[in-house]
Amino acid sequence: MGSKRVSIHGQWSSRWAFILAATGSAVGLGNIWKFPYITGENGGGAFVLVYLICIALIGIPIMMAEVMLGRRGRQSPVNTMEMLAVEAGHRPYWKWLGWLGVIAGFLILSYYSVIAGWALAYVFRTAFGVFTLATPDGVSSIFSDFIGAPEGLLFWHTLFMLMTMIVVARGVRGGLEKVVKFLMPGLFIMLVVLVGYAMNSGEFSRGLDFLFYPDFSKITRDGVLIAMGHAFFTLSLGMGAIMVYGSYLPSHASIARTSVMIALADTLVALMAGMVIFPVVFANNLEPGVGPGLIFQTLPLAFGHMPGGVFFGTLFFILLTFAAWSSSISLIEPAVACLVENRGVSRIHAAVTMGILCWLFGLLTVFSFNIWADFAPLGMFEHFEGKTLFDLLDYLTSNIMLPLGGLLIAIFAAWIMKCEASRDELELGEGFAYMSWRFLVRYITPIAVMIVFLRAIEVI
Ligand code: PHE
Repeated sequence: MGSKRVSIHGQWSSRWAFILAATGSAVGLGNIWKFPYITGENGGGAFVLVYLICIALIGIPIMMAEVMLGRRGRQSPVNTMEMLAVEAGHRPYWKWLGWLGVIAGFLILSYYSVIAGWALAYVFRTAFGVFTLATPDGVSSIFSDFIGAPEGLLFWHTLFMLMTMIVVARGVRGGLEKVVKFLMPGLFIMLVVLVGYAMNSGEFSRGLDFLFYPDFSKITRDGVLIAMGHAFFTLSLGMGAIMVYGSYLPSHASIARTSVMIALADTLVALMAGMVIFPVVFANNLEPGVGPGLIFQTLPLAFGHMPGGVFFGTLFFILLTFAAWSSSISLIEPAVACLVENRGVSRIHAAVTMGILCWLFGLLTVFSFNIWADFAPLGMFEHFEGKTLFDLLDYLTSNIMLPLGGLLIAIFAAWIMKCEASRDELELGEGFAYMSWRFLVRYITPIAVMIVFLRAIEVI
């Protein structure tokens, strides 16, 4: 049956529109920029394996829970959590879970926009042929000059944040559905082209080895936490983005099938990105662990040497910018939906206010790569030695806030919410499928998240 409430912010035109939007949210910089560089920093195969296990055992069940809660509540995450808690006969304090998500989304967008700005800048560099026949050193120094100058980063960050504000102000359905419809297949085709290049010109088998051969001596406790955090980050979980999109989902759509499809598409894109980057890294004797600049130091090399590289490269960075755009919209949507509901302001007003605040906060990240590059606010703790403001923001959001949000979502969906309510909303019947979902979110997910947390702080 599903719930009969309707959202005041509108509804997707169909199940497909939701799939596209949620995939648009999931697939973004996380897949193409972050996955390769954290894989490089954490030694490859074993890290990838942990990440894949987290997607399957934690990510997919939590995604189902989030969509379910959103669709049942049909409001912003803050109000949805409050209402569902009261409905289940509990105190309204669960709304703080919604707030945790709003804050996480805000913090993530502040740095996400800066990195998306890099992608935007690289559209033009590639189009002007800057990388044609460039050497590895040349490409690296172009990148370090670029991030070394705050003015440029500020300009692209501003432009990207404006783009985000415009779409968010227009509302969930205005345009987003159409953009994503072309974007996803386009990005996929580009990745196929690039994998083709990596097969012929890179150290393909070494790249695959690095990515898929698990060497457990290379993964640390923190590495496991990062892999789990990334499973949340890449699927946009734990902060209400998927919940708020779920609240616009028509009542009859199957939540389970939809969630699995989104997770598969997202994982495929990330693995393909890895299959492009690492062969190029090894063919050019680069270092896999260089950090956030990895794709900006490897992909331009590939584009600089392949036939039609200016065309393919420009197109690739355009698609990457679009992918980041459709994710950034979902990062701010919980906050905007909440402002509209609780303060009675217009969408435009809410989008502009949040956008400006987020832009300001983004300055911390802009400066982390240049004038504050040596500023490590928590450097006195061994664990955070040398970590810039950007590193800390990323650590706090991906590795702490999102898994914590996900843990609470799992606890709410499986322990607080009445069994009949979740069964009714998930429409999986009473058989094996529903029982296994419930078992996963009730026991496996919370226990796994807790163990990873406790091991990271070396309690166990
Ligand atoms: N999933 C997005 C990406 O991989 C980032 C994101 C995280 C979006 C959390 C929304 C919420 O790029």
